[in-house]
Amino acid sequence: MYRFTDFKIKSEPVILGIESSCDETACAIIRGRRILADRIISSADTQALYGGVVPEIASRAHTDAVDRVVSLALEDAGLKSGDIDGVAVTYGAGLLGALLVGLSFAKSFAYALNVPLMAVNHIRGHIAAAYLEDVALKPPFITLLASGGHTAILHTKDYSDSEVLGSTCDDAAGEAFDKVARVLSLPYPGGPNVQKMAQGGKANIPLPSALIRHGDGMTFSYSGLKTAVINYCHTQEQKGLQVNRHDVAASFQKAAIDPLVQKTVESALRLGLDTVTAGGGVVANDYLRESLSALCEREGIKLVLPVKRHCTDNGCMIAAEGLNLYLSGRFSPLSVNAKAAIPLKQ
Ligand code: KG4
Ligand code: ZN
Repeated sequence: MYRFTDFKIKSEPVILGIESSCDETACAIIRGRRILADRIISSADTQALYGGVVPEIASRAHTDAVDRVVSLALEDAGLKSGDIDGVAVTYGAGLLGALLVGLSFAKSFAYALNVPLMAVNHIRGHIAAAYLEDVALKPPFITLLASGGHTAILHTKDYSDSEVLGSTCDDAAGEAFDKVARVLSLPYPGGPNVQKMAQGGKANIPLPSALIRHGDGMTFSYSGLKTAVINYCHTQEQKGLQVNRHDVAASFQKAAIDPLVQKTVESALRLGLDTVTAGGGVVANDYLRESLSALCEREGIKLVLPVKRHCTDNGCMIAAEGLNLYLSGRFSPLSVNAKAAIPLKQ
């Protein structure tokens, strides 16, 4: 009989983490906060043929890859399935069919091994990636979260609680990068291609800042910024003028990222916190990484920036949040279901 409330907690458990919310099938294994294996099988190349993620193609790719990615991770770690103390898996937010592949696999695995299952909120995984970057990291700290689905500045108060200090009122930053990439005729995935296009470009086009309200509660808008980019390109074309794509990309990148970086550091200073972390795909952006590092250094704030591979979707972040859940005994029943959307706190 599998009783999810009955498991004993070890202090340095071996956690296997599975991620399948979008187009990456990922599996990582950690012992405490030490990474033993970190595998990703991506369907991004196939998705690129369609200009974006096609949910059915993603689900089929996960079905093909999930068994293989877990076997490869176990092999890399030099472990057998019996060495695993807990299984962490993304249960949302994400594409429902894609999530179900990883979740079903993880449930069967946990049941067969009779170990706890930890259902992980994908966004809390992005926050937790920093714990593997700095094994001594402890809350409280400020987190800059910027992915394809979320953009927020958070006060991470403890291992399970993050207060939203400011967030986007419409599109996420990554979504805006992807939409601007389309306007500039750049292929999927948009973010890294906009970054490449920005190289050698001048941020000389006047665009509205992504920060639309500050003071008590900060509000960002990426839909407005994206529309301004579209309008600029159309106006140039109507005037018969060439659009300098390098300048557009550099200007957009700066307008999108500068306020996030400034408000993140300002929040740390205002709350008297000496540490900032960051997570989510947009944090793989070099301009963001460089400007956040420079500003933190100038203000004497410690920055814990996960390596780029751990900013975009990966298994380590899910294992890291799984470890937090495991250590506080927050195990999930096998009846847990996938969810397309979840509030940050759940
Ligand atoms: O965290 P993530 O891998 O998936 C979600 O949870 O959404 O983030 C994906 C987002 C995409 O919108 C992608 O364009 C963006 O992160 N991204 C970037 C870069 N790499 C990925 N945006 C800007 N610059 C990058 N280098
Ligand atoms: Zn993500």
